[in-house]
Amino acid sequence: MTYETILVEPRGAVTLITINRPKALNALNSRVLDELIQAFAAFDADESQRCAVLTGNEKAFAAGADIKEMSDQGFASMYASNFFSGWEKVTATRKPWIAAVAGYALGGGCEVAMMADFIIAGENAQFGQPEIKLGVTPGMGGSQRLTRAIGKAKAMEMCLTGRMMDAAEAERSGLVARVVPLESLVEEALKTAETIARMGPLAAIANKEMVNAAFETGLAQGIVFERRLFHGLFGTEDQKEGMAAFVEKRKADWKGR
Ligand code: HXC
Repeated sequence: MTYETILVEPRGAVTLITINRPKALNALNSRVLDELIQAFAAFDADESQRCAVLTGNEKAFAAGADIKEMSDQGFASMYASNFFSGWEKVTATRKPWIAAVAGYALGGGCEVAMMADFIIAGENAQFGQPEIKLGVTPGMGGSQRLTRAIGKAKAMEMCLTGRMMDAAEAERSGLVARVVPLESLVEEALKTAETIARMGPLAAIANKEMVNAAFETGLAQGIVFERRLFHGLFGTEDQKEGMAAFVEKRKADWKGR
């Protein structure tokens, strides 16, 4: 597939994906969705790639779903096409990926950022779910992921008023892992992704799976899930190699098996 709305650049073991519709503030139309689905599937399938970074530009990570594309839709067409359900293919990515957010992350933009395993924000980042101002609601998981990330009070306030949250508040609230200077955002996100890329690939997927399980299960069940995956890793060469490398004071040579 030739990409028109995103840029995909492998940087060593890290795939950098950039949403590239600057004139529309990176509004997420169906083409962007299709291309992101392809890019994340290719990243997941490529054994040389271990972590990805999704970013936008300095003004906008993404200012939302494309309002112009949606405005003429009716219930029947939205329901029949199961509009937005394609994003579940993006969230099915098994390898870790980071959202590097500068500028506006509004509506669908905030929702896509929250689909990432974590967010690193530039100092000018602005997060919001302003769909209520358009007479609708979040539609790509925002009401659920935002509430899990920052709690009911702030999520409800943001969804009901449509107000934006700046980077400092987003960090205080637990929405983002870290805030960094705008000019070093992509570099910092790539550096963090490279750290993850140096870990054993099986352990990376297992860590991601078990942290995500915390949002799907009760505590006791989640702990059993964690322990089983932990036990399972003792059936891998990477566990033998990782522990031997520690004892022998050398760098581990991961095989991914
Ligand atoms: C389509 C968009 C867009 C969007 C911006 N643009 N956001 N096009 N969909 N979500 C376009 C504008 O129409 C304009 O195109 C160009 O990008 C620049 O935008 P401006 O508004 O001129 O820029 P600025 O004055 O700097 O204001 C920035 C902004 C504003 C505050 C971010 O653009 C804005 O409020 N955008 C909409 C944000 C929003 O409501 N997002 C949620 C979308 S709904 P032209 O051609 O005029 O230059 C959503 C829903 C998910 O995501 C589920 C619901 C069903």
